[in-house]
Amino acid sequence: SIYLVIAVLLAYLFGSIPTAVWLGQAFYGVDVREYGSGNAGATNTFRVLGGGPGAAVMLIDIFKGWTATNLAYIIISNGDVSDTPQFVNYQLALGVIAVIGHLFPVFAGFRGGKGVATLLGMVLAIHFPAAMICVAVFVTTLMISHYVSLSSILAGFSFPLSIAFIFKTSIPSVLLYGIAICALILITHQKNIERLLKGHESKIYLFKKKS
Ligand code: G3P
Repeated sequence: SIYLVIAVLLAYLFGSIPTAVWLGQAFYGVDVREYGSGNAGATNTFRVLGGGPGAAVMLIDIFKGWTATNLAYIIISNGDVSDTPQFVNYQLALGVIAVIGHLFPVFAGFRGGKGVATLLGMVLAIHFPAAMICVAVFVTTLMISHYVSLSSILAGFSFPLSIAFIFKTSIPSVLLYGIAICALILITHQKNIERLLKGHESKIYLFKKKS
């Protein structure tokens, strides 16, 4: 339907909003992609510009994924459908489309971020308890290792695992999407994985600087 086309377009455009690039340019006159890891995401904004801007980018990027995922409501708008497999499939598809927008933003020369915050927004919209497990895995890994990339990868893997084993979802496509999302995270974090293996990955200290 026309609503499907509109939802897909809006999801891509929402995902495409290059929060890190625009916030850095508007308030600090810098393109964060020229510094640090070169990534247009919350982590690199934190690295280059500090905690406040990093948190702002994270929240807005989460919101992008959440909003895009909820566009499923304009495709299926009749009553009690929000737990049906069809609805969840639309949510997953729209969330992933927003992530593709975030990776390849039409508003920033198609050079975006890695999609982790946007994915969290999607999971928040689909299954709040599963999202909390992902957040717990992320925070725990970050506190122990101080590697955001490793935390992102493990949190990404905890999504299909938690939804399959803890919540025993009966929607197979959720698992298929979950596995595809794991693959996507591994692809976007290729350089991080290389650095982690070589011991060169930069560490992030949220509360105190390395002395
Ligand atoms: O969400 C991106 C994060 O996992 C890694 O970011 O800037 O360290 O490559 P960065």
